[in-house]
Amino acid sequence: MVIDSPESGFSKVPKSHFWMRAKNNLFKNQKFHRIIGKIPILSGVAKREGEDIFALMSGFVSTQVLFVWIQTGALQKLDRKPYTAVMLSSFWGFDLERTEILCRAGEAIGLVKENKGSYRLTRKGAVIIGLPGVVDLIEHHKILYRDLLNPLDFFRGVEETHLSKFWPYVFSGGMDLSPNEVEQYSNLMSESQYMVAADTLNSVNIPPTCRFLDVGGGKGTFVGELSKIYPKVDAAVFDLPGSHSENAAHTCIIGSFKEDELPKGYDVISLVRILYDHRDKTIESLLAKAHRALGSGGRLIVSEPMLGPDRPSISGDVYFAIYTLAMRTGKTRSPNQVSDLIKAAGFVDIKIHKSRRPFITTVIEARKS
Ligand SMILES: C[S@@+](CC[C@H](N)C(=O)[O-])C[C@H]1O[C@@H](n2cnc3c(N)ncnc32)[C@H](O)[C@@H]1O
Repeated sequence: MVIDSPESGFSKVPKSHFWMRAKNNLFKNQKFHRIIGKIPILSGVAKREGEDIFALMSGFVSTQVLFVWIQTGALQKLDRKPYTAVMLSSFWGFDLERTEILCRAGEAIGLVKENKGSYRLTRKGAVIIGLPGVVDLIEHHKILYRDLLNPLDFFRGVEETHLSKFWPYVFSGGMDLSPNEVEQYSNLMSESQYMVAADTLNSVNIPPTCRFLDVGGGKGTFVGELSKIYPKVDAAVFDLPGSHSENAAHTCIIGSFKEDELPKGYDVISLVRILYDHRDKTIESLLAKAHRALGSGGRLIVSEPMLGPDRPSISGDVYFAIYTLAMRTGKTRSPNQVSDLIKAAGFVDIKIHKSRRPFITTVIEARKS
């Protein structure tokens, strides 16, 4: 047993702690590292671990380099033709010495490649500027980084966050938001929706002729992608005033799932990137409303990034968990936690689909009996 309290006057170290401390002491020991460095396979392992630690330490610097290349439009410029450092210097308005540092940094993080004195896009650079939503997300992150500037206060929870203001519906029913407030987040979501829609629709089979309601579907990007695969599906979006797109090909229903019941008569209800914005109480009520709105045999689809299913993951447990925490009402949940909430709302046959890209989304399906 562990008896390690200051009051007890003595402490008895359990066996497991002995081995744990012995291992820690070994890995802290410089002499051990010098020996390991001379053993072929082990030296490779140690080198990779060292690089991982360095990447952790320097991550923010790389992110800021990426930000400059994107925010100034320089990466997008290289799409058309290669640029020399001198051309980039005049484009950026930075002196040549600083430009060269930024160019080499851009090459080191894999955005650009120097060839005969000119910089061109790498494959990764082209993917970044080509994938819808990625550039917008990179720019959007400056808000999150401002909130994380003082990480201790952030985790104490003592500070107001800028991110909660970017998502103005988190503290209200949402029916009284200004068009401007809605516009800025709707555009960001709509742009980044294509990859989520692709992975979601790859995971599920939708009946070819059914009535489909996407709750919180914003401008309708998801139902637009759905209609390309299932043209006969009768699709509708339920969302706050101001978030629907004009001239939508789908039915637009204005309402707040915090204040109103969901409309009845749909065979499938989807919640795409909705639950992780809200506290448990809000989504318990939303899932109960979805259950009441569906008829017998009706289906529920939940799709959003989740915590690592077996162990903590970088995308789920570092990025999304901390992003949603900064929203102040948000919470990234594990697939099992989401399933438990779905089950508690009365759904059956709950299926967690294996995610191909958990950093984009994980999909869970369920049925009303
Ligand atoms: C994170 S965005 C996701 C949008 C879209 N489903 C997607 O994945 O791109 C959350 C959406 O939920 C909507 N929303 C937030 N609170 C709502 C409420 N109380 N009732 C209806 N919709 C709401 C927002 O307007 C927004 O469109």
